[in-house]
Amino acid sequence: MNKDIVCIGAGYIGGPTMAVIAKMNPDRKVIVVDINEKRIAAWNSADFDLPIYEPGLVDVVREVRGKNLFFSTDIEAAVKECDIIFVGVNTPTKMFGKGAGRASDLQYWESTARNIKAWANGPKIVVEKSTLPVRTAAAMEAILNAQDARSEVKVEGQGQQRNFTVLSNPEFLAEGTAIKDLMNPDRVLIGGPQDAQGQAAVDAVVEIYEGAAKNWVPREKILTTNVWSAELTKLAANAFLAQRVSSINAIAGLCEATGADVDEVAKVMGADHRIGPKFLKAGPGFGGSCFKKDVLNLVYLCESFGLHTAAEYWHEVIKMNDHQQERIVSRLFKAMFNTLANKKIAIFGFAFKADTGDTRETPAGTVVRLLHDEHVRLAITDPKALANAKKDLADLIEEDISTGGSDSRIFKQAPIEFTEDEYAAARDADAIVVMTDWCHYPTLDWARLYASMRKPALVFDTRNCLDSAALKGLGFKVLQTGK
Ligand code: NAD
Ligand code: UDX
Repeated sequence: MNKDIVCIGAGYIGGPTMAVIAKMNPDRKVIVVDINEKRIAAWNSADFDLPIYEPGLVDVVREVRGKNLFFSTDIEAAVKECDIIFVGVNTPTKMFGKGAGRASDLQYWESTARNIKAWANGPKIVVEKSTLPVRTAAAMEAILNAQDARSEVKVEGQGQQRNFTVLSNPEFLAEGTAIKDLMNPDRVLIGGPQDAQGQAAVDAVVEIYEGAAKNWVPREKILTTNVWSAELTKLAANAFLAQRVSSINAIAGLCEATGADVDEVAKVMGADHRIGPKFLKAGPGFGGSCFKKDVLNLVYLCESFGLHTAAEYWHEVIKMNDHQQERIVSRLFKAMFNTLANKKIAIFGFAFKADTGDTRETPAGTVVRLLHDEHVRLAITDPKALANAKKDLADLIEEDISTGGSDSRIFKQAPIEFTEDEYAAARDADAIVVMTDWCHYPTLDWARLYASMRKPALVFDTRNCLDSAALKGLGFKVLQTGK
């Protein structure tokens, strides 16, 4: 077997993960492949205009692209060339048939497995990088090793061997800190079959994470388990993190009702080392491509195994999250004299968190849609996510254009404005709603913003990232989360 690596799927996971693997393993060739030609062209662009924004990513790609990191659409050639195959294709929530709205849609994964089987020219290690339901590896191994002339090989001295060994190596990086997380992970998890061939495959992947000069992940941080534990750990870890966000947001509502301050409550709770301070920031609710999808997947798994109370428990995490965004709009409504129609609201931040252009499941998307239903005139500003915002809201933009001023619903004439300029977004607005905690927002000229707005001017800082006393001093009416 050779040491070269192909990763199928050049998205938020495949791109950054493979760039760092290539950086730390200069002795290996790493090829990232995708069916999306535009995405691959962007990864290869001469001016490094990469398809995703992630702090530090462009420096790593500059260092290794063309040396030992390559991006290509020729999946067949790469599968033939490399004996270690990572699969990082998307596994969205299934929107049809059995399990609709909860289960993972595994069609991309299965078609990838079938392609690997068709193109492989010898034994391969197949590594699940995507987040997958428990026992997917077993299903994939069944497809890959299904009996035909190619499914088994004889290895000298070892008798009959499986042609394909499937491992689970879930990724724990968070967007916005992907390069930092990859360079210095809390742990790397590799699950493999509990036999000699499985162990050899696990050792081969351990070697990658140790780095060529054993200068990357310390061996004690590389944890190995059986495949099913690895698959379930990823879902469980995301569910626990999402559950903490929903828990603190549930406390935030109570703080608003009672006069307690959620940041004070979280700080003191977090000082208990058993609880810890992280993931206790109240806000507009969690977004991102992973939490909702993975919790729903866990709900589906629990239901499939008849664990209905456990399924209900995890489902509440999602319901609490949806409620948090509905509460933002209700509070705006109340603070703006119970009518929002034809008022202008500037949305500061559309990305699901700071330091990313990713808008998948962003709370801002839900809030914008709810406000649009109320015939609010919307201006959206974000330093990195405007292109994705326009794509996500294409149906609303289209509706605004087609209905124009002739819409029978009064006040529905203004199209959504998109601008990188916060001052332009706020001009003549009745309210600013801060949805993403971009680090430059506290340093904006809030006196200038206030002067340009209609009065009374409101700021709803859903992330509690601004100096509320200073804003009140300028004349703003201020709403925060959990205060
Ligand atoms: P993504 O949509 O950004 O990227 C997936 C890529 O796979 C796309 O570019 C798509 O074109 C490609 N693809 C789909 N089918 C293909 C096929 N048959 N052959 C070749 N390419 C194909 O998704 P992502 O955010 O990178 O997530 C991928 C997986 O990683 C998911 O299972 C996700 O849950 C998991 N994950 C994501 C994150 C994250 O931060 N985004 C973190 C941990 C785990
Ligand atoms: C998450 C997991 O953290 C990561 O381990 C996994 O690999 C992918 O899913 P990600 O979604 O990129 O990462 O970002 P994360 O930092 O976890 O934030 C998720 C959401 O929760 C964001 O919308 C964030 O704003 C929100 N959040 C997070 C809070 O509202 N409060 C917090 O205290 C922490």
